[in-house]
Amino acid sequence: MDKPSENLAILGLQWGDEGKGKVIDLFSASFKNVVRFQGGNNAGHTVVVNGKSIALHQVPSGALHSECFLVIGSGVVLNLEVFHQELERLRMRGIEVLDRLLISSNAHLILPYYIALDNWRENYSDRIGTTGRGIGPAYEMKASRQGIRIGDLDTPKALSRISNVYKEVQLIVGKDTTLLSPEDVLQNLNSLITPLKKCIGNTQVYLHEAWQRQESILFEGAQATMLDIDHGTYPFVTSSNCSIGGLFTGTGLPPKVLDKVLGIAKAYTTRVGAGPFPSELDDSIGEQIRQIGHEFGTTTGRPRRCGWLDTVALRHSCNVSGVDGLGIMKLDVLDGLNPIGIVKDYKTKEGNRITSIPSTAYDWENIEPITEYYEGWSTPTKGITNWNDLPVQAQRYINAIAKETGVPIAYISTGPDRGDGFVPPESWLQGWLK
Ligand code: IMP
Repeated sequence: MDKPSENLAILGLQWGDEGKGKVIDLFSASFKNVVRFQGGNNAGHTVVVNGKSIALHQVPSGALHSECFLVIGSGVVLNLEVFHQELERLRMRGIEVLDRLLISSNAHLILPYYIALDNWRENYSDRIGTTGRGIGPAYEMKASRQGIRIGDLDTPKALSRISNVYKEVQLIVGKDTTLLSPEDVLQNLNSLITPLKKCIGNTQVYLHEAWQRQESILFEGAQATMLDIDHGTYPFVTSSNCSIGGLFTGTGLPPKVLDKVLGIAKAYTTRVGAGPFPSELDDSIGEQIRQIGHEFGTTTGRPRRCGWLDTVALRHSCNVSGVDGLGIMKLDVLDGLNPIGIVKDYKTKEGNRITSIPSTAYDWENIEPITEYYEGWSTPTKGITNWNDLPVQAQRYINAIAKETGVPIAYISTGPDRGDGFVPPESWLQGWLK
């Protein structure tokens, strides 16, 4: 059933890689527009159709549905070279998007200098474990008003602006790192932007008008709240607002555009890169989850750190973004594990119970998880499409997540393919799936 005028945001609630790509692809079929509003090619949204997976980094995950119009808002930072590679991969699968794509002329470009600076910092400064894609420097240059927007390429100032960035980055990375000349960078960018010219425009105006026409809009979050620069585990975060605020700044639409927020979480927790992770399992159970869940980064191939579901983090993320329902992903990865832990709260080294997330990296280091254990299930959940077919232990586990977060379960995923999973009977998402 089509829901023409309701607008939905799909946001990650953990440290990214929750499986947003699958859910966005699934629900895109019911929406006219799918919009990316923050992040860049640090994101890796995997969509699996008929057993074949396709990884999208910057192209919105609605790409696979030919009726979906795709929008890249001004809050996104764009690597044009990678963007073309993505378009090519889609083309090889018979998917053309250029006739249904609008990219904001205000979106900032990721220059090769930013990648050099990102990697330099990872080598010579405290490691964040970034994806090495130049994301931090891109947002940093944007904030310092040195950044290059797509629209800038057409102006006479383009070369001098790129030269300013070149000089600044060169000062930091030193003469030993060879940087491309500003002239070469501009020439590359110009040749990459030329085939996209007809897709560049004012996405704020487009989206506002689409909203006024009551066209449905699906907002696709990248990364997740615990990586949000304001609301995550700073400094071990990305450089954008991945929770609800980023949607409004990254599109130029007001809060009342949104009808519902679907928060996505795995049935356990993973994180890539450095930083706090209280529920981490640095043992054979963590390894088992990594192997069964194929927990290796879509963007960088790095092994993901794995651990129990952390409902302190989930509660925080649900509160920050006003989440209306939870999408619980990869339930089947827990098949056969017994018992299964849920982190309910944290405690300080002195034994004081903490029910919300700490602030500084130092505070994070000084807490421990309080874990409660649930009976596992032996019957596989893989591919189950009905609440009543879930083993009773899995139902109890899912119900415990809803109870701890105070947020109802809106969707459950039991495998990578589009068909693996279901909308539970009571869920407000009933009827949103085509
Ligand atoms: P950056 O976004 O490349 O600067 O990386 C900063 C932190 O965010 C690192 O810990 C990355 O591993 C993490 N990160 C960035 N994008 C993603 C993502 O899409 N999934 C999971 N982690 C991410």
